[in-house]
Amino acid sequence: MKTWPLSLLFLSSLLYPSIAGDTITPSTPLSDGETLVSAGGNFELGFFSPGSSKNRYLGIWYKNISTHTVVWVANREAPLTDGTGSLNISSDGNLILYNQAAKVLWSTNSSKASSPVAQLLDTGNFVLKEGNSDSHSFLWQSFNYPCDTLLPGMKLGWNLTTGFDLYLTTWKSTDDPSPGDYSFKLDPLGAPEFFIWKQSTKEYRSGPWNGIQFSGEPEMDSDNYLTFEFFIYPHAVYYMFKVVDSSIISRFMLNQSKIQRYVWFNSTLGWTLYWSIPKDQCDYYAVCGPYGICNTNDSPICNCMYGFTPKSPLEWNLRDGHNGCVRKTSLDCHGDGFVRLSHVKLPDTSNSTLNESMSLEQCRESCLNNCSCVAYASANITEGGSGCIIWGSDLIDIKQFVDGGQDLYFRLAASELNTGSTGGNLNEKEVIVIIVICVASGLLLLVSSGCYIWHKMFKSIKLSGRRQLSFDLALTALGSTQDHHPQDESNRGEELELPLFELSTIVIATANFSISNKLGEGGFGTVYKGELEDGQGIAVKRLSRHSRQGTDEFKNEVMLIAKLQHVNLVRLLGCCMQGEDRMLIYEYMHNRSLDTIIFDKTKCALLTWQKRFNIIVGIARGLLYLHQDSRFRIIHRDLKASNILLDKDMNPKISDFGVARIFGGDQIDAYTKRVVGTYGYMSPEYAMDGIFSVKSDVFSFGVLVLEIISGKKNRVIYSAEPNLNLLSHTWKLWKEGNGLELLDKSMGCSYSINEVLRCIQVGLLCVQDRAEDRPHMSTVILMLGSASTMLPLPKQPGYCSERSAIDTERSSSCTVNEITMTMLASR
Ligand SMILES: *[C@@H]1O[C@H](CO)[C@@H](O)[C@H](O)[C@H]1NC(C)=O
Ligand SMILES: *[C@@H]1O[C@H](CO)[C@@H](O)[C@H](O)[C@H]1NC(C)=O
Ligand SMILES: *[C@@H]1O[C@H](CO)[C@@H](O)[C@H](O)[C@H]1NC(C)=O
Ligand SMILES: *[C@@H]1O[C@H](CO)[C@@H](O)[C@H](O)[C@H]1NC(C)=O
Ligand SMILES: *[C@@H]1O[C@H](CO)[C@@H](O)[C@H](O)[C@H]1NC(C)=O
Ligand SMILES: *[C@@H]1O[C@H](CO)[C@@H](O)[C@H](O)[C@H]1NC(C)=O
Ligand SMILES: *[C@@H]1O[C@H](CO)[C@@H](O)[C@H](O)[C@H]1NC(C)=O
Ligand SMILES: *[C@@H]1O[C@H](CO)[C@@H](O)[C@H](O)[C@H]1NC(C)=O
Ligand SMILES: *[C@@H]1O[C@H](CO)[C@@H](O)[C@H](O)[C@H]1NC(C)=O
Ligand SMILES: *[C@@H]1O[C@H](CO)[C@@H](O)[C@H](O)[C@H]1NC(C)=O
Repeated sequence: MKTWPLSLLFLSSLLYPSIAGDTITPSTPLSDGETLVSAGGNFELGFFSPGSSKNRYLGIWYKNISTHTVVWVANREAPLTDGTGSLNISSDGNLILYNQAAKVLWSTNSSKASSPVAQLLDTGNFVLKEGNSDSHSFLWQSFNYPCDTLLPGMKLGWNLTTGFDLYLTTWKSTDDPSPGDYSFKLDPLGAPEFFIWKQSTKEYRSGPWNGIQFSGEPEMDSDNYLTFEFFIYPHAVYYMFKVVDSSIISRFMLNQSKIQRYVWFNSTLGWTLYWSIPKDQCDYYAVCGPYGICNTNDSPICNCMYGFTPKSPLEWNLRDGHNGCVRKTSLDCHGDGFVRLSHVKLPDTSNSTLNESMSLEQCRESCLNNCSCVAYASANITEGGSGCIIWGSDLIDIKQFVDGGQDLYFRLAASELNTGSTGGNLNEKEVIVIIVICVASGLLLLVSSGCYIWHKMFKSIKLSGRRQLSFDLALTALGSTQDHHPQDESNRGEELELPLFELSTIVIATANFSISNKLGEGGFGTVYKGELEDGQGIAVKRLSRHSRQGTDEFKNEVMLIAKLQHVNLVRLLGCCMQGEDRMLIYEYMHNRSLDTIIFDKTKCALLTWQKRFNIIVGIARGLLYLHQDSRFRIIHRDLKASNILLDKDMNPKISDFGVARIFGGDQIDAYTKRVVGTYGYMSPEYAMDGIFSVKSDVFSFGVLVLEIISGKKNRVIYSAEPNLNLLSHTWKLWKEGNGLELLDKSMGCSYSINEVLRCIQVGLLCVQDRAEDRPHMSTVILMLGSASTMLPLPKQPGYCSERSAIDTERSSSCTVNEITMTMLASR
């Protein structure tokens, strides 16, 4: 979309004076050059030319922001070829768009009105109503004809009474608003859910609404800024969102194959992309075929459901999962039972049956008694679960999450359940299962007590399964299976050229890895400074030999890291492999790492508050990119001050991202796995249980924020109270209302008190004990960026509860030295 320089915008508002007010009537038509402005000044309606096109369209755009952003177009398919268009209200009360030759290019089809008035409302809705009636009954409204943008208060979905199907369609191009190939549409059959269609092919599925969110989008939850609403009436199904704080301008748009949420903070930042869906490989429809489970944390990403086996083993091994899986043993209806699959996006509900009043128990009963039922699940997970979805056809498009998602109970033959009960096959790492055997022909009492016992017995399996899973969560990336996504094809062409450096070049550049060139030692190896022949400074990370990856595997990982490019990430220049030696070559950063500055008594004065704030925001942006904006979902796992490098202007760049991946899957023997991380920065759930997720990175980020503000390391023990680390110290000060005491004294006095307190609060929100309480990085950025929004109150940080006997492990991690630990956790 075109960005209009401010001056041009002012000029254009001079050239195109708005006609007085926000309404047109039969006697005051609107011609090209004039505009309507809504009463509160939010939106403007008039004629415009998109992109580089010369055609004229009637549309609505934001009035008060510097980027010309069109949210609605009337004559999408019938452009005016010159500036002679005119929007009139006809005598029978319809809006009609004429060109010079009085040809009708577009019109409304409302019923007759006696004194019609068209008004542009402050919500962005352009409405036609009776001039003398109350303002809430509209004869026609633009909100019923969505284009590619969803505004707050606008509905998407079906009204079966009127036959309205409200959905978004993309523009063909930035120059042409006529409908493109993609649409974002609610499917009201079964349990309603959204699809992104490319013409008539499903590309993405949201999963059904489960009372809180879409089953497939745990992150697409209501937050401090937006609430989502989903209505299922007898004759209508709608989805809409509302803003909590109307000062934040927010819109959703269907941008080619993606549905995106944009937020406008100010004219410097412009539109900020808040999220974009589909975001990972498993979001693409049916990647793993029927009865396949997609999990981006697994490699390969596709696994069969428990009791199923790949339909085409050859393709499956070539990481093409789209043919899915088949049952090992066919169902015989009467002896079947169910297996619970947790944390999933429920399968495609197009052919499912929804009953909102059944309980989960009735649901199971009804599925068991119906031989064509293959699975069931709760329809609404609020208040412990209610409602019932029953599937009668193949289970397609299941995605598994670390956190979030919901439970699906699928049907298996009794014999499969029995092999499960010996524990034999449970080692297949994909599924966390609790097996409930219910023999249909048994006594009811026997059945229910049987269920209970099985449930108990398998709880332990569930726990150990989860533990195993969490260790397996290596950094996630799109592997070779991305091949069957049409939109990735363009990316496949741009194979990245990654220079392979000769060992001799590196030896010369680093003076044979001389001690004097050593910059530091990290978890994955030693870093040397070097200078290439052409004078370019480089940093060489010589990986320790724990990585036993083969050449190709290593190259693949490096290629992956090299594809991650963002101003707040250190750029990878290439790699070097020779024999057992593996090296990564990065650009050199003049100001080295953050820890060499903030924890240094003299150098820390270099960092004023403004610089520190920039560093915090930069790190947040880099991390957000790793977590959701890059094509790969990367969990850093070892974020800390020494991994934040500073360029000559003190801009922060995250380093060592993706490297854990080279080591991540490294299994030393069958029972141990390496946990990578640094005490002091590790979240409680990661340090204790090895469970890591994006929220563990958020925790480390919170620690960093507090370190940057205070200039103190988290491990420093405050002498007055021996068990107080930086987190508990901050918590104490903040609770007492003395947050500013945390501030590094060397910073001087030029800081904004509000900004500092806001940062401290954000830091504390990030280090909260429970991972689910911590915000996502996207929210963190929003919180740092907007001074006007209220932040939630933080709960107690991790590692800070009163020490008790059960917690000794944790308390020790408050005081352990800050070195990168490679901890061997046994399971
Ligand atoms: C569509 O998305 C791309 C990146 O995903 C972005 O660069 C572009 O600005 C978006 N288009 C609009 C109109 O916002
Ligand atoms: C529509 O309004 C324009 C003035 O903007 C007028 O010149 C034109 O005659 C009107 N057309 C019709 C068909 O009423
Ligand atoms: C337009 O934006 C400016 C700066 O963003 C703001 O100060 C002003 O109040 C806004 N005007 C209206 C009418 O919203
Ligand atoms: C009005 O009705 C005509 C014919 O039924 C249709 O082609 C046109 O798209 C309708 N216009 C609007 C704005 O609904
Ligand atoms: C569906 O449309 C009819 C007719 O416009 C309207 O009366 C009804 O309120 C709509 N239903 C919902 C749930 O919006
Ligand atoms: C889900 O259940 C809760 C509580 O039982 C109820 O308030 C809510 O309306 C339900 N949501 C849907 C979409 O059925
Ligand atoms: C739903 O049923 C139809 C007809 O049997 C079938 O073609 C379609 O693939 C099914 N869809 C899903 C998602 O199972
Ligand atoms: C939903 O289930 C309840 C309880 O089994 C039953 O009474 C009701 O008729 C069902 N509703 C529909 C629409 O099938
Ligand atoms: C059995 O389940 C299928 C699939 O959900 C459904 O179409 C059918 O109506 C059910 N039969 C009975 C008797 O409930
Ligand atoms: C826009 O927001 C950013 C980040 O909050 C801030 O640095 C910048 O100064 C703001 N610009 C304006 C013009 O307010």
